[in-house]
Formats: sequence, C-alpha cells, structure tokens
Amino acid sequence: VEADAARACAVLGHRPASTARAHASHKGSYGDVCVVGGEGMQQRGMGMSGAALLAARAALHAGAGRVFVGLLDGGALAVDAVQPELMFRAIDALDFAATATATVCGCGGGHAVAGVLPQVLAASGRLVLDADALNAIAQDDGLRHALASRGARGQATVITPHPLEAARLLRTTAADVQSQRLHAAAALARELQAVVVLKGSGTVIAHGDRSPVINPTGNALLATAGTGDVLAGMVGARLAPQGADAFDAACAAVYAHGLRADAWPAGRPLTAGRLANAASGA
Ligand code: APR
Ligand code: MG
Repeated sequence: VEADAARACAVLGHRPASTARAHASHKGSYGDVCVVGGEGMQQRGMGMSGAALLAARAALHAGAGRVFVGLLDGGALAVDAVQPELMFRAIDALDFAATATATVCGCGGGHAVAGVLPQVLAASGRLVLDADALNAIAQDDGLRHALASRGARGQATVITPHPLEAARLLRTTAADVQSQRLHAAAALARELQAVVVLKGSGTVIAHGDRSPVINPTGNALLATAGTGDVLAGMVGARLAPQGADAFDAACAAVYAHGLRADAWPAGRPLTAGRLANAASGA
C-alpha cells in the first residue's frame, strides 16, 4: 500500500510529506513521550515551566505519537494553550512516566527534580536526562548508581549535558571537559552506562563500543536559552518508537537540531520556541 501510494504521488508529481510513515501506522506506532520537569514558583520563586513545555513541543513536532507533561513543584498548568495537543498529568502519580515509551526528565527541573529521580530512574523505559536531572545526579551517589544500573538492566538512557553539566558529573571543570571533549564524553558514557550527548559546537555523541560521533551541523544561532530543552524533546521523540536504538536516536536528533539552525532564514531571530515548531522531519 505504501509503495503504491508513493508511486501514485510520483506520477502526480508530488512527494507525500508522510512517506517516512507506514501508511497503516497509528499514533501508537510512534510512541508516547513523557516530559518531567519545569519547576513552578512554589519553592524558589523561579518559574521554569517553559523549559518543559519547549521539550514537550519539540517532541510533538518531531513526531511523537502522544506527549504528556508532568510539571514539578507547583507548575500547575492543565493546558498549553499554544500547543493544545500536549496532555498534562499530576506529578504525584508518576505512573504515566512508567507507561510512556520514552521519558525526558530534567528540563527546567530545579531542585524538585531530585525527589522524582529515584522513581524515574527505576521505572522509566527509554530515558533522556538533561539539565537539573544531571545536576542532581552529580550531587548524589545513590542516583549515580541508579543511573548506571539502568545500563546493566538493558534500559537505554541518553544524557545531554552541556560542558558545565558534564564537568559536574566528572567532578572536574568545564575548561577541562572542553580541552578533551571526546575523552570526556567517552569517560561519562563508560561510567554512567549511558549514551552521552556532550553539547556545544561540534556536539559529541559517545556510547560503549560505538565509534564516537562529532556532529557536523549547528551554529551559534543555537546559543539562546531553551535550545537545549528543544534538543532533549527531539531525542525523546526519536527514542519513543518501539525498537529505537538509543545511539542512533541521539545522533539523528542532534543532526536534525543543528540542521534546522543551519537552514534558518537570514533575518529571522532563532528562538527556542520557533526551533521547537521546526523540529519536524529529518
Ligand atoms: N554551535 C553549535 N551549537 C550550539 C552553539 C554553537 N555555537 N551554541 C549552542 N549550541 C547548541 C548546543 O549544542 C545545545 O544543543 O545549543 C544547545 C544549547 O543547550 P544548553 O547549553 O543546554 O542551553 P539551554 O537550552 O539554554 O539550557 C537551558 O539548561 O544548563 C541548563 O540551567 C540551564 O536551565 C538552563 C537550561
Ligand atoms: Mg540546557
């Protein structure tokens, strides 16, 4: 059916936008992404819910079948009026994270993320850890051990540190990480038994015995708040379909994220929200 549809469209001179999707697929084919993060104003008076929304919007635009959001610590949205496809869930019952095929945890998480990490690390299927999830793990050996033991159980985890977050995990400085990026990414991958996406110009993706990858796309337009949250959501969307390979998903998401910035129209400021809306496709 799919081949016939493609042939028919070729005859008509059109290339269907959905050729990458099997004709008879349904939203379950593309998996559920659950985003846990986005600290509210209750504890520190710092509203970071936007980071979780950016990750969730990016996951949706990158093709996830369904996207759920659990906001931490009083982030009490019930709907994203700009992106009404997103479904909000109370964070006190984290069952929705356990049933999602991919979880993205930490974007704008603040200190509240440490409280949910034990359950997220134990119960999530494929998992992306970013930002304050990584900062919490850097400060807590129990969480560090819980992360590494996911690898031993065959549960895929992708971590997406920027150089300072990587330095905290490695107990060194960002300058040290930057002076040996390939080595730092490989060391983290080994210690934490995870796919490592060491962000920055020339993002490095490393995992186990796979050859490390230096991503060729991306530019300084990405140096604006929230683009890392968008990347985390894009990785989550690629991790969500059944059978997804975590290293390949990370490489594809990093490549696409940078490609969007490389193709960005001159004169139109790149914001993370606009990048999330452009997260569809290759
Ligand atoms: N060239 C290529 N890529 C770049 C460049 C550049 N010059 N500058 C930035 N990027 C890319 C990075 O590779 C990464 O994918 O933009 C993204 C930036 O991600 P982050 O560093 O995580 O930045 P941000 O999204 O603003 O993170 C916000 O993360 O560190 C926490 O506390 C911080 O809450 C904040 C959150
Ligand atoms: Mg970040």
